[in-house]
Amino acid sequence: MTKDRVFIFDTTLRDGEQSPGATMTHDEKLEIAELLDDMGVDIIEAGFPIASEGDFRAVSEIAERSKNSVICGLARAKTGDIDRCAEAVRKAAQPRIHTFIGTSPLHRAIPNLTQDEMAEVIHDTVTHARNLVDNVQWSPMDATRTEWDYLCRVVEIAIKAGATTINIPDTVGYTAPRESADLIKRLIETVPGADDIIFATHCHNDLGMATANALAAVDGGARQIECTINGLGERAGNTALEEVVMALKVRNDIMPYETAIDTKKIMHISRRVSTVSGFLVQPNKAIVGKNAFAHESGIHQDGMLKNAETFEIMRPEDVGISGTSLPLGKHSGRAALRAKLKDLGVEVGDNQLKDIFVRFKELADRKKEVFDDDVLALVSTAGESEDHLQLVNLRVVCGTGGQAEAELEMEIGGKDVSATAPGDGPVDATFKAVRALYPNAARLQLYQVQAVTAGTDAQATVFVRLEEDGKIATGQSADTDTVVASAKAYISALNRLVTQSEKTGDVPEVSYKDA
Ligand code: KIV
Ligand code: ZN
Repeated sequence: MTKDRVFIFDTTLRDGEQSPGATMTHDEKLEIAELLDDMGVDIIEAGFPIASEGDFRAVSEIAERSKNSVICGLARAKTGDIDRCAEAVRKAAQPRIHTFIGTSPLHRAIPNLTQDEMAEVIHDTVTHARNLVDNVQWSPMDATRTEWDYLCRVVEIAIKAGATTINIPDTVGYTAPRESADLIKRLIETVPGADDIIFATHCHNDLGMATANALAAVDGGARQIECTINGLGERAGNTALEEVVMALKVRNDIMPYETAIDTKKIMHISRRVSTVSGFLVQPNKAIVGKNAFAHESGIHQDGMLKNAETFEIMRPEDVGISGTSLPLGKHSGRAALRAKLKDLGVEVGDNQLKDIFVRFKELADRKKEVFDDDVLALVSTAGESEDHLQLVNLRVVCGTGGQAEAELEMEIGGKDVSATAPGDGPVDATFKAVRALYPNAARLQLYQVQAVTAGTDAQATVFVRLEEDGKIATGQSADTDTVVASAKAYISALNRLVTQSEKTGDVPEVSYKDA
């Protein structure tokens, strides 16, 4: 076992995607997996293959395409789940099955199993998984609320049955740093065979301690951290990849462990995950928040000008924010745009570049300087021209009393249609006009506006989340006109609902509870 190497296990596409509203399309999952693979993530948990046909397809395709990472799928403690998972990861150069069962008293009560009965299930299912692949991870879900003696007993059973990694999940975000370190340390000291396998830590952020708990577990002897980009995940989320990786890098003096992550790729993947999941990153979020490297107050700015180290413990370049940000203008050509994208860590194909360039020119005509964040916002909205529903033109007239009227022209399935609708303000009138042209029962769950850059000509990014019949879809768009950005975001979310209905079919939902 490598003692000073900490393996990074990313579960953005499984635990992250499980977060209500964070559903990603198939192509988005492939894109995120490629970015994870490329940035040096050791293990990618690509999905839960038994959960749906879509999850199975995503895990299989990611397995086939990945170049460096181990590809892992999740499976409950059931032979059917494990078989399906093995099939999904089969084409990976390095496949892993991750099987789990809830071992705490509360979780044992759900399948109504005694300690002995559950111990037998664990023995049988881990043995089954190990007969299918060499690399098996086992998790006692809700480990931090499982009785100590029983936890030691089941961990030993799983190791003897062939598990190569034992993950200790803090499923409900209940533990605290000292406890997290002690638990791993005591397990390693107590359980026979513990020295031959890797212990992993999987923390949730319900009390805001996920990063601290994961790092403490490493102190206790864990050598795999399970995490997600931007801390995406159910409820308060999971340990954030960018936080643990940068903490290990910046405080390597007191945490002398290495990861294989290329930290310069952090910012780009953070933005892509935020865009495709529809989960905005809070401005003051550690490492990837918009303000994480911004110095507003006079005293800070003065210090920064004299010596950046006065207020900065890491350089923006280290996480992929270009230090010398030269804005582009309307005379900048395609080569300059490509160079800027490369600088920002974004690789695009020729067709995508063509699309982004057209949008860039339109934006540069309206805006004097196009900043890095503007360029990244353009990347996020590329590809809309192939959608079923498209915005052609929008004119809104507003009165001082709050009443507005929207005249909207759209292309729906290749046909030009138009409508006029009144509303309480410009956005309400616009959304009503969209519904007049494309009647739907989707409920608006979230509407959020964020300025991408500073100034009155700044682009606004609008996020919209819609729900229809239990399906959730998000849309995002950027424009110098907030109402136009709102219309595009709303239409983009509707397009995603359309694609979801086409793809999902009647696949039964699988819950963890019947494991
Ligand atoms: O939080 C948790 O316990 C999980 C398991 C499935 C590992 O995500
Ligand atoms: Zn989890």
